[in-house]
Amino acid sequence: MRILGKNEILAAAELLRRDELVAIPTETVYGLGANALSKTAVQKIFAVKGRPMDNPLIIHIPDASALDLYCLNVPREAYELANAFWPGPVTMVLKRKACIPDFVTAGLDTVAVRCPACAPTTELLRMVDFPIAAPSANLSGRPSTTRVAHVIEDLDGKIEAVMDGGDCEIGVESTIIDLSGSRPVLLRPGGLPVEELEHILGKMEVDPAITHPLSKDVRPKAPGMKYRHYAPKAQVVVVTGTPQRSAAWIADHCTTDTGILCFEEYHDMLSLKGLTLTFGNTDRIDEQAHELFDKLRLFDHHPEINVIYIQATSAKGLGSAVMNRIGKASGFRFVDP
Ligand code: TXA
Ligand code: MG
Repeated sequence: MRILGKNEILAAAELLRRDELVAIPTETVYGLGANALSKTAVQKIFAVKGRPMDNPLIIHIPDASALDLYCLNVPREAYELANAFWPGPVTMVLKRKACIPDFVTAGLDTVAVRCPACAPTTELLRMVDFPIAAPSANLSGRPSTTRVAHVIEDLDGKIEAVMDGGDCEIGVESTIIDLSGSRPVLLRPGGLPVEELEHILGKMEVDPAITHPLSKDVRPKAPGMKYRHYAPKAQVVVVTGTPQRSAAWIADHCTTDTGILCFEEYHDMLSLKGLTLTFGNTDRIDEQAHELFDKLRLFDHHPEINVIYIQATSAKGLGSAVMNRIGKASGFRFVDP
């Protein structure tokens, strides 16, 4: 796989025009990019990731003016959100126009649209005359990729190139909001805090797939929410309660084959047995989001680790995205000390 620098955007565009896959940096996570209008290219995404065919892709556009090109009956709220937050980490699900193919949307009559805030990728999106379909650039089921090294780890030998944009600024995927129905519904908490969306949309309905494990017969509105996700190989357990209480519980329960992901302040207290990694200070949810997938991936380099205890963070702001991702990584296995 070629690693393309900031002055090789033309080469990335050329590869995409030839139906090849290029991993692209965004402010949330790396994306596995392809020409969204090419069946050959999009089929490669599903094959390379091992992604179930019923899981639709997000299309990426350079600015809000492309909304009307690909979406039908765009509601006023969509323009308001675009004005306030694009380019940025919010994805909108809207009615699709016929030019957006079935193989991108898994046959749904809607399409998820996102305008990422990452300079080289914006330049790339302007250079090509098609939207770029891009799921997160990880193998299906693994933690998303937030560093070039993660992309290489999962996809080397399987795709043509990755554009090196450095470490992703936010570190968790975009917030997804469904604006295709009569009322807005939150489908996935993410890089843009829900509280900010609610300034514009008012109190939102929340898809139950966000906070609960799904029974087999329930179909979440975002099909991807039903798959086990973000998961390292060891069993993850989320320990809730105040940081003091979760740290005390973990100290009591850890053994030599335990992995611990804790806040910086508790590193010394919890570095007794097993492998202890940190993900930012207690009150720095931005650091926690930035480090989360990197640290989950690190545990996989230690096959002796069988269980990973993670300290729960606050569910406010960006914290709701962090809690959703660690909840999913654990299969919603929470312990309340
Ligand atoms: O931050 C992000 O959103 C990253 C970067 C690369 O842009 N992309 C990303 O894509 O996270 P992916 O494929 O890993 O997650 C997209 C989620 C999936 O759960 C999928 O089911 C849902 O969006 N989705 C896509 N199209 C949809 C639609 N038309 N209706 C409802 N959900 C949709
Ligand atoms: Mg993904």
